[in-house]
Amino acid sequence: MLQFRRKKAEKAREIDTQNLPRHIGIIMDGNGRWAQQRSLPRSAGHAQGAETFRTIANYCKDIGIEYLTVYAFSTENWKRPKDEVDAIMGLLEKYLYEAIERMERDRVKMKFFGDVSVLSPKLLALIERTSEISTHYSGCQVNICLNYGGRDEILRAAQSYAEEYARGEVGELSEQALSDRLFSAGVPDPDLILRPGGEKRLSNFLMWQSAYSELYFSDILWPDFKTSDLDEAIIWYQARSRRYGGI
Ligand code: IPE
Ligand code: IPE
Ligand code: MG
Repeated sequence: MLQFRRKKAEKAREIDTQNLPRHIGIIMDGNGRWAQQRSLPRSAGHAQGAETFRTIANYCKDIGIEYLTVYAFSTENWKRPKDEVDAIMGLLEKYLYEAIERMERDRVKMKFFGDVSVLSPKLLALIERTSEISTHYSGCQVNICLNYGGRDEILRAAQSYAEEYARGEVGELSEQALSDRLFSAGVPDPDLILRPGGEKRLSNFLMWQSAYSELYFSDILWPDFKTSDLDEAIIWYQARSRRYGGI
């Protein structure tokens, strides 16, 4: 009886497809701890995390999310041991190879936020190819943050503006002018930012763009994160009252 009641309660908690966040940001955290709990190398956690990313990205596309931005590798993640960094880069290569094959079918558009110029030539070529194919599609846009830091992004935008200013090409700096020079130029700010993995911080993710984002934290480690957990986050989001400083 209790079980029946619980099932019914679960069923009542469905996402309202008329009020979806246009843009979801995800800080994919907890891969290392997931592996540790199983006495596996951290790289196994990253591999499982990549699987979760595939599942969640597909789900976002299916339910009609317009933009998904995921934090895959931060400007600070270079501090990790070389073998872990190599494992993450290897998984990215694998992911991009497969994504290129599937893009036509999935019609997703992929973009990269961050300074990718320092990545390996192989990864760079895959990124270029993916970006090129993406120009043909207008479906769900997946932004992958790679060697990305929110402060670095703002700094680069300011620097580029300063150079244009020095050449006399632009006038006074404005919020719009700065936004236009971020990696996210043209993308609406994230409505909902999710951080699985138990930590309650942004760790340099979308510092400028998150000004009015709803922040959802979950203790579930990213490799364990399910589409039903995303539903729960969206349902939570749909109950928020977004005031943007008004009443
Ligand atoms: C997130 O998982 C993936 C990256 C930062 C690349 P972590 O590797 O940070 O996992 P934890 O936080 O150590 O568990
Ligand atoms: C944030 O996670 C970066 C990514 C998920 C790519 P971290 O694990 O690097 O963040 P901290 O160190 O816990 O703040
Ligand atoms: Mg972490």
